[in-house]
Amino acid sequence: MTEKFGKQFREKYFTSIDPEVYPVNHGSWGQAPDPVIQKFKQASGEQYHYTDKFFHDIRDKYTDALKQLSEVVNCDYHNLALVDNATTGVNTILRSYPFKKGDKIVMQSNVYGSCYNVVKFLNYRYGVEYVEIEVNYPISDDEILQKFEKVFKEEKPTMCLFDTISSMPGVIFPFKQLVNLCKKYDVVSLIDGAHGIGCIPQDLSEIAPDFYVSNLHKWFFVPTACALMYVDAKQHHKIHTMPISHSYVQDDVKLSEEQELNRLIDRFSFIGAKNYASVSVISDAIKFRNEVCGGEETIYKYCNSLAKQVGEVISKQWGTSYLDQENLISAMVNVEVPCESLGIDVAAIKANWTRFDQTVYTPSIDVHKSFIPCVVHNGKLYARFSCHVYNELSDYQHAADVLVKVMKDSLELEPLFKKLTI
Ligand SMILES: Cc1ncc(COP(=O)(O)O)c(C=O)c1O
Repeated sequence: MTEKFGKQFREKYFTSIDPEVYPVNHGSWGQAPDPVIQKFKQASGEQYHYTDKFFHDIRDKYTDALKQLSEVVNCDYHNLALVDNATTGVNTILRSYPFKKGDKIVMQSNVYGSCYNVVKFLNYRYGVEYVEIEVNYPISDDEILQKFEKVFKEEKPTMCLFDTISSMPGVIFPFKQLVNLCKKYDVVSLIDGAHGIGCIPQDLSEIAPDFYVSNLHKWFFVPTACALMYVDAKQHHKIHTMPISHSYVQDDVKLSEEQELNRLIDRFSFIGAKNYASVSVISDAIKFRNEVCGGEETIYKYCNSLAKQVGEVISKQWGTSYLDQENLISAMVNVEVPCESLGIDVAAIKANWTRFDQTVYTPSIDVHKSFIPCVVHNGKLYARFSCHVYNELSDYQHAADVLVKVMKDSLELEPLFKKLTI
């Protein structure tokens, strides 16, 4: 039987969260429940009982974790690898892929900053070109897809990089349709699914991209740092570990059938000495999700309906709007901050973000213990609320009040933010 989610669930299973904190920002760093953290601590020291045996056996432990994850995302475990985080996964793919000078990568304008920088690096170092597609919300999935299709036709890119759920604002991107569009135009698809597994349902056999990376330490309750990387079988030989290590084989080396099948596991299970505690507790995270939370569907339903409720209630509380197209909301929702009624100039915030950080974020984190990430997008300031099973509506009502209070206070500290009235 599933237990009641919300604050009482937090008090029972998430006691590592400071009880004075209003944890409404799961999306940035993730969070893990007590039973998983306990196992993680144990696992961190496990290698020291008998280091030789630990590292001798690591491939089996690693493969076991892949097998369990392959059931969650419905794909052949031979197409999976574990890396430290989404940034590493995206780097691994982009910096391995055999681009030639003049090849083009297409991406959305709100692609995650660290991934954008990898593309800029490829541009600077190897002359790989990139095309950025402007995506400003509110915009429909169809409009987004039309924009990409136009660029696919005109620019004939090699690869397209896009999100499952974008970071800021935190909205679902039409990634399934975009994979299909990539197939139609023979473009390699790379999905940044940093917010993927554990947040929205993921069926990799159905989506069938070329490449996909998803953090396990964000929404899936695996402690940091751990992410899953999916590589379609036809792309295995092009992808190399980062760093390149003992297991390196050139793209064109002919392997036996069995070696070919295990190409990713043989490469990625060991790339140098590191702590494998996150890998060791993947099964514990799955167990907690299934046995205590009631399974993926139950978790998703709770988080998604709470996010919708938060959008509804907080936008009313603030007298503003939220990004509410049905297909945008996952376990995160973006509500417009009432800058107009507070007399705050959104453009000034955008131009002086460091001051916003100092005058709004710092007191939110240090004094009020209630942090909501914000973004200036399409002329509005949005607050991104994240919802997980340990949250309930009152968390957001409180956090929303705190944000308004610190924003009012910021007007005293930073006159630049005051909207000029004529
Ligand atoms: C869309 C997106 N991509 C990539 C990342 C990077 O994740 P990590 O810091 O785990 O590498 C994030 C982090 O929030 C993200 O939101």
